[in-house]
Amino acid sequence: MKELTPKKVRTATLLQFKQDGRKIACLTSYDAMTAGIFDRGGIDVVLVGDSAADNVLGYTSTLPITVDEMIPFGRAVAGACERALVVVDLPFGSYETGTDDALKNAIRIMKETGASAVKIEGGERSAEQIAALVQAGIPVMGHIGFTPQSVHALGGFKIQGRGEGAEQLLADALAVQNAGAFAVVLELVPAAVASSVSSELSIPTIGIGAGGGCDGQILVWTDFAGLHSGKPRKFVKQYANLAEVLGSAVETYVEDVQGGNFPLPEHEFEG
Ligand code: KIV
Repeated sequence: MKELTPKKVRTATLLQFKQDGRKIACLTSYDAMTAGIFDRGGIDVVLVGDSAADNVLGYTSTLPITVDEMIPFGRAVAGACERALVVVDLPFGSYETGTDDALKNAIRIMKETGASAVKIEGGERSAEQIAALVQAGIPVMGHIGFTPQSVHALGGFKIQGRGEGAEQLLADALAVQNAGAFAVVLELVPAAVASSVSSELSIPTIGIGAGGGCDGQILVWTDFAGLHSGKPRKFVKQYANLAEVLGSAVETYVEDVQGGNFPLPEHEFEG
């Protein structure tokens, strides 16, 4: 296994990476096993995304997941990562009502998971909450462009920041940066717009469906590993086809059990 530098990724490391032009590689994870693999493989930031809602809990969007449900995922991932910076999403309903709720829920997440930072969706509209958390000593990653918690308000999974929307996107990015966030996710944004926002900002941008001009990239791990059926979305590169691997392993196992080929004597205990 190759030597990874630095030994521990901190928020300041990400800023240094941006200044050095070293791209930041991020993945989501919701469990100890995959988090450990991603950490040892050199992933810089592991995000315990509220995408656990659809990827683990079977909800149809990220809206229903709660802080109580996020905490065990956060604890499992933070416990498994030695090098990567672990960030946990503040779920829908845990911060929009104001700075008191945002503080209460972010403090709970930091205390009960052992993560190093939280992520909040929204630009200008969430700036006050971001500033309050940063003031309290909690590192915050922003998230603008397409924000999945606002899927209904945005009218579905739509590219953000096109045409006149580019101006609002930059205003959101600057609001997040000025509020003290250490990085910002840009989701579903035209590549040229994301690239220009990335050069305007001093903090790193982490793109998902936002092109190669961002300072880093993030993928939802189940997309990256090909665990979903059907064609991946345009911005996803599938690095493995785990659905196929697992599907065929299951078929072989069923055949073995039914045909008396598992367990064999080497799997049995004596005496
Ligand atoms: O919850 C999540 O997985 C995310 C990524 C899409 C960035 O927020």
